[in-house]
Amino acid sequence: MSSQRSRVVVVGAGPSGLLLSHLLAAQGVDSVVVEARSQAYVAARVRAGILEHSTVEVLREAGLDARLRAEGAEHRGIHLHWPGERHHLDFVDLVGRSVWAYGQTEVQKDLVAAAQARGQEVHYEAADVALHDLETDHPHVTFTDAAGVARRVDADVVVGCDGAFGPSRAAVPDAVRTTWERTYPFAWLGIMADVAPSTEELIYAWHPDGFAMHSLRSPSVSRFYLQVPAGTDVATWSDDRIWDALAERLGHGHDGWVLTPGPITDRSVLPMRSFVQTPMRHGRLFLVGDAAHTVPPTGAKGLNLAVADVGLLAPALVALLTRGDARAADTYSERALRRVWRCTHFSWWMTSMLHTGEDPFDRQLQLSQLRWVTGSTAGAAGLAENYAGLPLEL
Ligand code: FAD
Ligand code: PHB
Repeated sequence: MSSQRSRVVVVGAGPSGLLLSHLLAAQGVDSVVVEARSQAYVAARVRAGILEHSTVEVLREAGLDARLRAEGAEHRGIHLHWPGERHHLDFVDLVGRSVWAYGQTEVQKDLVAAAQARGQEVHYEAADVALHDLETDHPHVTFTDAAGVARRVDADVVVGCDGAFGPSRAAVPDAVRTTWERTYPFAWLGIMADVAPSTEELIYAWHPDGFAMHSLRSPSVSRFYLQVPAGTDVATWSDDRIWDALAERLGHGHDGWVLTPGPITDRSVLPMRSFVQTPMRHGRLFLVGDAAHTVPPTGAKGLNLAVADVGLLAPALVALLTRGDARAADTYSERALRRVWRCTHFSWWMTSMLHTGEDPFDRQLQLSQLRWVTGSTAGAAGLAENYAGLPLEL
């Protein structure tokens, strides 16, 4: 077995893992990143598309925002649509903050480029990743690297950035952890299309047939979602069926608005669920991002919450490891969870307001809620404050 030492082992090279290693390196704290998948696989995964205000700030302070500013699009707000009505909420007017449309795949590329530029040690395609001795002062991680070599990395701290299915979450003993879960009876069918967006800012649409959303990635690439029953087989949705449903639900023809279809380049069904595991720290293990919590994507919070966790944890680990000051590390879980629960509520609330079921009473409540958030400044400001993002510390 090949052995080495590092101050920190980061499990997972998704956005939270690579951002954490970047922020630690900037303060002179070395880390080794261990990732189960290949670099190409992680880079190609189609996921989130909207960066909130505080995420953009964290990336700016990290010096990672050059391409975001050049190629991303700043959005003042979103449109809310239901049959016969469309309303724009202007977040800048309402709460003084904007959001940016910049895909997670692009954030990932920027993080990989920065990792390569600083010579970051990242082990892609690591097998049998296991966390050990987390309750002692000498935790370590073992794995088999891409060349088949068995490796062990000893560290002061292990950070689980390995998403909802990695080993870190389960490394917290059952007797210590508490979990909360909500599964939804619907899923999202998501498509990427090579066509110019038919809107400048996102459209979230309520419709009796189900929710739909028009998002975008670039001047020539559009992203769309349709509410479908949980467990839907993507093969049951032909291109024509997808475009017809999008046109109907997004309001093609409303006030002359036209949805332009195009070639579909990617399609998948995303299950919807909420999950929170506490505490986010156990001994020498810290949990970050999807490793500790999952939100349904309706509030565009998953990636933003992961970045916010990193924004809290990085300075806490720097204080702990360079100055022996444990105060911020000791309160990390409590501080992060305040924001996690705020975003969990907001994501649940957006999901509940916009996804339709069979109950006619529920539908009337949803429409009433939509009229309130679009018709009342107080209602609109509440949505805007949560969507555009709250400060890192709540
Ligand atoms: P992840 O991005 O999940 O990264 C975790 C990393 O750990 C991965 O690279 C994984 O391969 C690695 N890993 C897993 N197991 C191991 C192991 N055993 N050893 C080492 N490494 C391991 N959010 C939105 O806001 N909008 C969206 O449209 C949206 N779409 C999504 C679609 C899908 C299919 C999924 C799964 C999530 C989506 N999300 C979306 C959520 C958002 O992408 C996540 O919240 C975000 O990626 C969290 O970042 P993370 O770094 O915490 O976790
Ligand atoms: C996306 O562009 O993928 C996206 C945008 C907003 C959401 C969810 C997903 O709420």
